[in-house]
Amino acid sequence: MRFLVFIPFFFSLFVQSFAQISPNYELARIEKEAFFDSAAVVTSHPLASQLGAEVLRRGGNAIDAMVAVHFALAVVYPRAGNIGGGGFLLYRQQDGQVFALDFREQAPAAAHKDMYLDAAGKAIDSLSRVGYLAVGVPGSVAGMWQAHQRFGKLPWKSLVLPSVALAKAHALTKEEAATLNRYAPDIRKAQRGRATALLPSKGNTWQQGDSLRQEALAQTLLAIAEEGRDGFYTGAVAQSIAKEMQAGGGLITAQDLADYQAKWREPIQGEFRGYQIWSMPPPSSGGIALLQLLGMIEPYPLEDWGFHSPRAIHLMAEAERRVYADRSKYPGDPDFVSIPQKALLEKSYLGQRMQGFRAGKATKSADIAPGQLTNESEETTHYSIVDAQGNAVSLTTTINTNFGAKIVADAGFVWNNEMDDFSAKPGSPNVFGLLGAEANAIAPGKRMLSSMTPTIVCKGDSLYLVVGTPGGATIISSVFQVFVNTAIFGLSLKQAVHAKRFHHQWQPDVLYHERGIWPRKTRRLLSGWGHKLQERSYIGKVEAIRILPSGKLEAVADNRGECSAEGY
Ligand code: DON
Repeated sequence: MRFLVFIPFFFSLFVQSFAQISPNYELARIEKEAFFDSAAVVTSHPLASQLGAEVLRRGGNAIDAMVAVHFALAVVYPRAGNIGGGGFLLYRQQDGQVFALDFREQAPAAAHKDMYLDAAGKAIDSLSRVGYLAVGVPGSVAGMWQAHQRFGKLPWKSLVLPSVALAKAHALTKEEAATLNRYAPDIRKAQRGRATALLPSKGNTWQQGDSLRQEALAQTLLAIAEEGRDGFYTGAVAQSIAKEMQAGGGLITAQDLADYQAKWREPIQGEFRGYQIWSMPPPSSGGIALLQLLGMIEPYPLEDWGFHSPRAIHLMAEAERRVYADRSKYPGDPDFVSIPQKALLEKSYLGQRMQGFRAGKATKSADIAPGQLTNESEETTHYSIVDAQGNAVSLTTTINTNFGAKIVADAGFVWNNEMDDFSAKPGSPNVFGLLGAEANAIAPGKRMLSSMTPTIVCKGDSLYLVVGTPGGATIISSVFQVFVNTAIFGLSLKQAVHAKRFHHQWQPDVLYHERGIWPRKTRRLLSGWGHKLQERSYIGKVEAIRILPSGKLEAVADNRGECSAEGY
């Protein structure tokens, strides 16, 4: 669907042309579903998608497009796009090799287990959510750099410079203006009088088409464009961060920054009815959880039951209930805790977990504990890219909640509040209501557990689906549902992504659903079976690319928000 007109820009003139984009949102276009012959990119912001597609058109590969998109999102989508946060990259090369890069934030060296507890041992939620103490050591720049060093083709600088121009000035979309206005009071409060480009001038609100000018961010991006990783982790930007942290009561030091390392991990891999699923290993819980969910539903004839049939919803919700209970106990940073990954994915274990499943009767979450193993407003953003050679990038990145810790660094970027993803105390839920235990306790240098689930699916040896989403706890269930919608229920990718979603996370014992998802009859039946239904605002923002048997790419941007698909 084409909402708005777009004026093309030229790669060789990136800097100048971005500077020339007039502060008028009619320059951008939003495509919700598009079919391409060669390459595609889907992100949560039209400008980032257009830039990514332009890089691909100019001969860049999926990793080059990723670098350009990532830095662009840090500028045009500051509620979640970032250089002050972290994320996970799943990369499948055209030859079939799959790589997982962990550039998750980590606890500063001065962090300690009880840092968010009061004298009575109770967790003080605000400390891990707002302000400097909530910030983990960022990983995004290291992640981009490391992936580009290994797989990139075009010069790094040419991929970062467009975002310098965007930071100097770009026009706000309708949703970005509204989001900045909605969060302005929180940001103003957390900033404690420090000026930031993200706040509108006194007495004003942002309007669609206004020019957002982030000069400090432009300078930081310029340092990154010129010096790569060092432009952020050592040198003037790092000094500025260390100074700011000290003044603001944060823990991150110049040493923490210099020490930060993105890490290649072994991707999670499994099979489901002829599909090969690749996803993110710990410190994300997503890959294990997704394979557990698929393993639990595999024995049941869901396709006979039908899409959003009460029986199918019930089965999927009951699988989610059990998987999220396991998530509360077992996964954490693999460099700190040993995770019984193999045991959690054993067919026999998953079968055993589903033994209590009954048709027509919800299990009470109180009756479900994490399994016994015998052997061993909310925002994040996801983008999916496939290049002309068939290399695929599935990348989810976050500063945790909208605008993270609500503070903007002196260097112009928004700080994450990722420390809240640790379990501040066993039994004390994080901002997404997720519970955690010892495996996810805070320790210096440790990465906090995540739900981010960048995923790539193959059918036989061929690339089939690139998918992921934001949504905190709901990420795992959203990726699960989109895959099941296409692979089992046979929906088109657009139907699969745009379909309303539901979510169960064990605790609280509630079956969340989007408004208008099911007819009254279905809701009555599910309630009668013992599900506590609760409506909530939108669940996830999925960006996906499916490779059709003809070889064409079907690129779908979620209809939740201004997500947009581009390509050629
Ligand atoms: O890593 C995680 O699981 C969370 N920090 C993700 C947060 C998120 O998706 C918020 N978005 N809606």
